[in-house]
Amino acid sequence: MTETLLVTGASRGIGASIVRKLAKSSPSIGCFVTIARRSSDYDSFIEEMRAQHPNKTFIPLYADVGDAEQLDAAMAELQNRNIHVDGVINNAGYTNPKSINEIVIDDFLYTLKTNLIAPFSIVQNLIKRGHPPSLVINIASTAGMNGRPGWLTYSASKAGLINMTDVMRQELKVYGTRVVCISPGRCATDLRKTLAPDEDPSTIMQPEDVADVIAILVSDAGRLIDSQNLVVRT
Ligand SMILES: NC(=O)c1ccc[n+]([C@@H]2O[C@H](COP(=O)([O-])OP(=O)(O)OC[C@H]3O[C@@H](n4cnc5c(N)ncnc54)[C@H](OP(=O)(O)O)[C@@H]3O)[C@@H](O)[C@H]2O)c1
Repeated sequence: MTETLLVTGASRGIGASIVRKLAKSSPSIGCFVTIARRSSDYDSFIEEMRAQHPNKTFIPLYADVGDAEQLDAAMAELQNRNIHVDGVINNAGYTNPKSINEIVIDDFLYTLKTNLIAPFSIVQNLIKRGHPPSLVINIASTAGMNGRPGWLTYSASKAGLINMTDVMRQELKVYGTRVVCISPGRCATDLRKTLAPDEDPSTIMQPEDVADVIAILVSDAGRLIDSQNLVVRT
């Protein structure tokens, strides 16, 4: 069967690594729908994928997932093009570390909209369309399990995502949807640079490592992994 996988935040970092890995290793996935904001990096990534995998389809959508109107428009485009999504990887993530007295409510809300509400809206949209996906993977973070000074907005959004995923896991069983939450630890990406600017990226987990774990979850063997929140770290 040729399946369609939707991956948010697939212009770079972990999301791009997931698409790279699955395009190579998952013959059942014939179509990748990706969402990120418009950028030359995103364009180059899609060009690279199309050149390397001419037998697969890559459909880039452009949206700020923290903006409900833009996200709705991207989901409407999928519907208008009659694209049925079989699997969703909610990977797009945002952080702006600040101490409690520096946090601006609008930025807190934007963090929640991007990291928590967008994954919900995508899944709700597909269900309301009458096409529940068979697999949802939400990418949370170990920051959602343990606090760190300065990471309040990010940690709160990821803690919410971990618990929201557990509700989805139970509620979507009725549709036969498998819902998995993974919480990566430190991984060498731009987002990690924002959280820990002085860290040497060569000393921590790489995006390809997380993509390898995702490939297992997406595979037939992954169907046997039943976890509320799978921690992925070195
Ligand atoms: N790196 C870590 O140490 C680590 C650890 C635990 C969990 N995570 C989680 O892993 C996921 C991927 O992060 P990463 O580390 O790969 O970060 P990254 O390299 O900074 O990439 C983030 C991706 O998300 C997209 N994105 C961010 N905000 C967006 C928005 N509002 N609308 C649309 N796309 C948006 C970015 O696309 P554009 O900016 O091009 O639009 C980019 O493709 C995130 O959910 C993050 O919280 C990361």
